[in-house]
Amino acid sequence: MAEHLLLTGASGGIGRALALQLAKAGYRLSLQGRDAAKLAETCAQVLALAPAMQPATQLVQQAAFDLTDAAALIAFCRQAEAACPVDGLINCAGANLSRAPAQTPDWPALEQMLALNFRVPLLLQECLLPGMLARGHGTILQVLSTCVGFANPGVAAYSASKSALESYSKVLRRELQDSGVRVLHLIPGGVDTGFRATARPEYLTSDDVAAAALAMLQAPKSAHWHELVLRPQVERNWA
Ligand SMILES: NC(=O)c1ccc[n+]([C@@H]2O[C@H](COP(=O)([O-])OP(=O)(O)OC[C@H]3O[C@@H](n4cnc5c(N)ncnc54)[C@H](OP(=O)(O)O)[C@@H]3O)[C@@H](O)[C@H]2O)c1
Repeated sequence: MAEHLLLTGASGGIGRALALQLAKAGYRLSLQGRDAAKLAETCAQVLALAPAMQPATQLVQQAAFDLTDAAALIAFCRQAEAACPVDGLINCAGANLSRAPAQTPDWPALEQMLALNFRVPLLLQECLLPGMLARGHGTILQVLSTCVGFANPGVAAYSASKSALESYSKVLRRELQDSGVRVLHLIPGGVDTGFRATARPEYLTSDDVAAAALAMLQAPKSAHWHELVLRPQVERNWA
């Protein structure tokens, strides 16, 4: 049977592109977004794929809610797992909510980013890992950012929230080394999505990043692609 993946942030940007590429590749999906109308559009596009892809079974669950609502998050994970064992979790939802200078933290935005970009993936993992470990196989894919590897003025809080997840997840990877569960980090540079205030056509597309995620998932299980960094050709902030 096709693997069942739970994907957050499927209502737009990279998450929507990834939902469509995963559906085309035959995965079964549980999709989360926050905006119900945007998530419905993603689901409609998934269901509009070729009838041969058995759309009724391909879209296992879908729900629109704020991921910082822990009760809703736990309920969604339980529904997805009850409908069909979850083979993989893709932590794609995320946001940069402030460009405050590092010396004057925007405390509410910092707390929100730590909640969404760091604590939410941990809670999702806590919900879904027991099933994966019991079955002896699974994948956790974290969508990080190249900000974990450089210092870019104005993104201290966002960088810290993504770096916190990276650090935590690296330890998780070590602890799960012999469990059959892979922990993978996808690390994109700039991507032209609604994440940004203005259009950046010179940046990566959502489809570029989705294709990279799909390649990581489809790599042989004996060769874990622990980290994949991809940047737009024009980017200069890493050298
Ligand atoms: N764009 C870039 O340049 C870039 C670069 C590196 C890494 N990333 C990372 O890539 C991931 C996807 O970003 P993107 O570019 O696709 O951004 P996007 O177009 O803004 O999409 C973000 C997704 O996260 C969801 N989301 C945001 N806050 C949420 C919340 N509180 N609860 C539930 N869902 C929430 C959004 O839901 P709604 O739309 O329904 O509100 C949307 O589905 C993020 O983790 C981001 O940090 C982006």
